Amino acid sequence: MQKDFSELIRLATRAREYAHSSFSGFKVGAAILTKKGKTYTGCNIESASYGLTVCAERVAIWKAISEGERDFSAIAVVADTNELTPPCGACRQIIWEFCGDIVVVLANLQGKTKVFKMSKLLPNPFDSKFLNS
Ligand code: THU
Repeated sequence: MQKDFSELIRLATRAREYAHSSFSGFKVGAAILTKKGKTYTGCNIESASYGLTVCAERVAIWKAISEGERDFSAIAVVADTNELTPPCGACRQIIWEFCGDIVVVLANLQGKTKVFKMSKLLPNPFDSKFLNS
């Protein structure tokens, strides 16, 4: 499963700089890779109405979906934490629903990285197959 995700991490790290995180001060960047090799980036965007905040992962996914993309292979998530920042529960649900069992690459600014499959981060997921059964 391990391959070179350095470019995806670089893109997520750059996207992190655009984080709109004046309430938490916590900047996150994400970059998603399609099966055909295209990339889309996202940063977290916070609202004064805190619950409307959107995480970096979902911004990247919504950008890709809204451009017609449907098939993904990996997503990188970058934050400035020693223990690597994983996707929140809401993002795990969305990654699973829109991207399936893709590779999730976590990284920090010191070059530490860790790679997971999505099914490891969200075991026994709820998805559309239950609605159609
Ligand atoms: N956040 C992300 O963008 N992605 C994550 O994986 C974890 C949390 C954001 C949401 C909020 O803007 C800030 O980090 C603090 O929770």
